[in-house]
Amino acid sequence: MTDKKAYLSIDGETIDLPILTGTLGPDVIDVQGLTAKGFFTFDPGFVSTASCESEITFIDGEKGILLHRGYPIDQLAMKSDYLEVSYLLLYGELPSQEDKALFETKIKNHTMLHEQLNDFFTGFRRDAHPMAIMCGVVGALSAFYHDSLDISNAEHREISAIRLIAKMPTIAAMSYRYSTGLPFMYPDNTLDYSSNFLHMMYSTPCEQKEISPTLARAMDRIFILHADHEQNASTSTVRLAGSTGANPFACIASGIAALWGPSHGGANEAVLDMLAEIGDVKHIDKFIARAKDKNDPFRLMGFGHRVYKNFDPRAKVMKQTADEVLAELGLEDDPLLKIAKRLEQIALEDDYFVQKKLYPNVDFYSGIILKALNIPTNMFTVIFATGRTVGWLAHWHEMISSPYRIGRPRQLYTGAAQRDYVETDKR
Ligand code: CMC
Repeated sequence: MTDKKAYLSIDGETIDLPILTGTLGPDVIDVQGLTAKGFFTFDPGFVSTASCESEITFIDGEKGILLHRGYPIDQLAMKSDYLEVSYLLLYGELPSQEDKALFETKIKNHTMLHEQLNDFFTGFRRDAHPMAIMCGVVGALSAFYHDSLDISNAEHREISAIRLIAKMPTIAAMSYRYSTGLPFMYPDNTLDYSSNFLHMMYSTPCEQKEISPTLARAMDRIFILHADHEQNASTSTVRLAGSTGANPFACIASGIAALWGPSHGGANEAVLDMLAEIGDVKHIDKFIARAKDKNDPFRLMGFGHRVYKNFDPRAKVMKQTADEVLAELGLEDDPLLKIAKRLEQIALEDDYFVQKKLYPNVDFYSGIILKALNIPTNMFTVIFATGRTVGWLAHWHEMISSPYRIGRPRQLYTGAAQRDYVETDKR
């Protein structure tokens, strides 16, 4: 809180509104007192609304800055690994060597699923979208862990977080394996988090897949770069669900559902669908023209961001990783990737995109990397969800650890005024 105040004048009455100051970022006008004066604020899409206080992640969209617990994302992506970043997000500090080893062991102890959960997978159609499966299976976990659902108990919250981080790659890989008819692979706890995920995706009981360190590193970076992003739609959904006292598995399932949409996590899948629809470099101009046409709902998927009006700092690292992966796999001449490269170049130079500050976002490049890794397109958002789980958990835990109220937005009602019911024969 500062001594600064904002003053709102309505019909001759002045209302004082305190101004709150954070460590970084713009000051925030505290409008909580307005309800008592008979007013709500109106902010569709929460463009101007801070819904909570948080110490986890800071974004400056104008400057293209993203910090987790103060550490720049590019440093974390290049020097750290996903489980270390998970520890940082959950506990607030980078772990000592001992703490890191202990955290990794705890995660490894929980990578397997309850055997009965296999029946949930087989209950789905083979062509079910893996996000639908993941959403259902994660929600179902709450039926398996009655021993740790007391959200007011810090130990219960921690064990639930560990279980979720550990089991998400297993659930993700099983969703894929089920769709292909291949047998489920158990986790291999001798492998690191990301290599183990690739193992569960691609090994078979007859043949152990050799995991290239470059590709495992790329996978790990994808997890790191998706680990958290402040109060985005899915995280806000998790907080809102959590504010009702719902259990963590139910809350994370709600986050997965919110992430699925093409304006959010579904964009990486939409990028590849769009590249396939464009089909050839010679059609790009037509699609660029459609993206610029106000009467056409088509948008260039993987471009633009609600917060970043500069290059998304995650996209910078992702672009570098994409280049490394394409070089290792010798895929520079892949036709879809050629379209992607050309699209990126045009959008970075075209007036429409430059003036509206529509830069390629993280999903543009992650889509390209995942395609190069031979990951099926419908798994892209599942991988985003796997990486984001720790961010959702960190925000959920932060909220529950301090006094909080149920989230309950209000509205500007524009429907019919009160009227009397009319009998059917008189309508
Ligand atoms: N292609 C063409 N025009 C666009 C695009 C695009 N991808 N994105 C925004 N615009 C235009 C939009 O038409 C509008 O123009 P005008 O001012 O003339 O009406 C202007 O740019 C501002 O757009 P907006 O819809 O007000 O911006 P927003 O902050 O509400 O939406 C967004 C952000 C990410 C939903 C949007 O840019 C978009 O739909 N992008 C494509 C989907 C995508 O890649 N999403 C992934 C986001 S990154 C991953 C994540 O964090 O989830």
